[in-house]
Amino acid sequence: MRLAILGSTGSVGEQTLAVCEAFPERYAVVALAAGRNLDKLEAQARRFRPALVSVADEASASAMKGRLADLPIEIAFGDEGLEAVAVHPADRVVAALVGAVGLRPTLAAIRAGRDIALANKEVMVMAGALVLREVRAQGVALLPVDSEHSAIFQALSGQRPEDVARLILTASGGPFRGWSEARLARASIAEALDHPNWDMGPKITIDSATLMNKGLEVIEARWLFDRGPESVDVVVHPQSIVHSLVEFVDGSVLAQLGLPDMKVPIAVALAHPERLPLDLPRLDLAALGRLDFEPPDVKRFPCLDLAYQALRADEAAPAVLNAANEVSVAAFLEGRIPFPGIAALNRSVLEAHIARSGAGRLGNLDDVMEADRWAREGAERWLAREGGDA
Ligand SMILES: NC(=O)c1ccc[n+]([C@@H]2O[C@H](COP(=O)([O-])OP(=O)(O)OC[C@H]3O[C@@H](n4cnc5c(N)ncnc54)[C@H](OP(=O)(O)O)[C@@H]3O)[C@@H](O)[C@H]2O)c1
Repeated sequence: MRLAILGSTGSVGEQTLAVCEAFPERYAVVALAAGRNLDKLEAQARRFRPALVSVADEASASAMKGRLADLPIEIAFGDEGLEAVAVHPADRVVAALVGAVGLRPTLAAIRAGRDIALANKEVMVMAGALVLREVRAQGVALLPVDSEHSAIFQALSGQRPEDVARLILTASGGPFRGWSEARLARASIAEALDHPNWDMGPKITIDSATLMNKGLEVIEARWLFDRGPESVDVVVHPQSIVHSLVEFVDGSVLAQLGLPDMKVPIAVALAHPERLPLDLPRLDLAALGRLDFEPPDVKRFPCLDLAYQALRADEAAPAVLNAANEVSVAAFLEGRIPFPGIAALNRSVLEAHIARSGAGRLGNLDDVMEADRWAREGAERWLAREGGDA
């Protein structure tokens, strides 16, 4: 199978390449797109010999040309480079960019008829209805990489949609589970980046600490599995062993379990409908002894509720919330706002959107990008007003 990877130098991108490396007879990596990590990208290009690589900007592209001068590899850059990788002849495209930057290339890959292994959840959050329409029109497969959605995808396999009562997403609760409001107000960047179970990129790690990640996943699930928000629930499960569950109309609940390792859902998305014999530690339930569950604390972690509020509001609200969250997470990581400022900024921009009228329809990609732009401007204004050194 020929694979193109958007975001190859990231956490999901690297783990995807690790799976490819373990099964060289099955996977040929034909195109890679990254941002500015040229050392990592050069090593990947030398190891996998793709026909095309793309980097974030022109300066990085000319540096890359010098580095790879001895190899017959085409170098591209910027939005055009991402799109070139997305539509390069391949059988499956791994969408592992982070944030809104992944939307255009993922849509381009779908329109070019590629099956998609989707990690870049912001794509579904911003434009779920649009993406779903294109997926159906092109008849391509949309295979979730997010561990929770992979679990649901696996639990739904062979089931009739009308027999499904509820999707139940598990959440680890992040590094701040059980923290008091006073302690949360002083949470440091290092503490927020220290996830108990998963080793991920910085944006999703902060999203896990605020529970915004679970909110984004609720929105992602709403579109991926075409379910109303009222039938998508969340339960906190600190061990991250049960990756998510599906409840059926007869009360049966099917779950997918495994040790927390992203290579498993990545392998499911790469190999579907087959499975890869991964050489990884196995789950030993008796050694584990117990699995715990509790309701999410939406008072101390309001971002989860914001996601439901956005889903209930209108089509544009999730794109607005997503953009506000990208700005607030970046501001927190730059030390401009304290941890509770992330939820405060997100709420302020979302509520301003809900209060304005006539901006709720998403007919096409331009509408999505306009909602995104509007929210980023509002978020920057909030930062200018309320931000400062955290
Ligand atoms: N990590 C996980 O375990 C995990 C689990 C479930 C879902 N996800 C989702 O998967 C997506 C990727 O997450 P991640 O943790 O792998 O993120 P990450 O480690 O931050 O990697 C992001 C990738 O995107 C590239 N990139 C960022 N901005 C770019 C731009 N403007 N142009 C070109 N490339 C750009 C980065 O390139 P450079 O580094 O070269 O700049 C990097 O390759 C996210 O949507 C996340 O929510 C991740």
